[in-house]
Amino acid sequence: MIRALATLGLVALSGGAAAADFAPVAPPGALSCSGCHALHPGPAEMLPRITGRPTADIVAALAAFRSGERQATVMNRIAKGFSEDESRQIAVWLGRIR
Ligand code: HEC
Repeated sequence: MIRALATLGLVALSGGAAAADFAPVAPPGALSCSGCHALHPGPAEMLPRITGRPTADIVAALAAFRSGERQATVMNRIAKGFSEDESRQIAVWLGRIR
């Protein structure tokens, strides 16, 4: 009985760790990106993929959009809505989506 409970405990613990890696809770604003960017591969992808990419790439792109250094149609305005720290949180979350 004790062994069975210990096994259950281990399963619960490892399940928790996997859930944390997957980061199911999106940081504020992150879900709005999927209004235009596909979060998963599909036939109708017209914009650059922003998921599964290194955090630094997305953070740098958002910073360049925010400063105006990088020309854009809509991303300048969208990037201005997020601080550097918020951008990083979104980038980390997007980077974990495969
Ligand atoms: C209204 C549609 C729209 C929304 C919403 C949107 N994007 Fe974009 N995104 C674009 C377009 C269009 C481009 C191409 C640059 C441009 O013209 O603005 C782009 C480009 C990008 C790029 C550059 C990718 C590359 O490899 O060159 C990044 C990074 C990006 N978006 C991140 C985001 C993030 C993060 C969010 C959510 C906070 C977001 N976008 C929300 C339309 C959108």
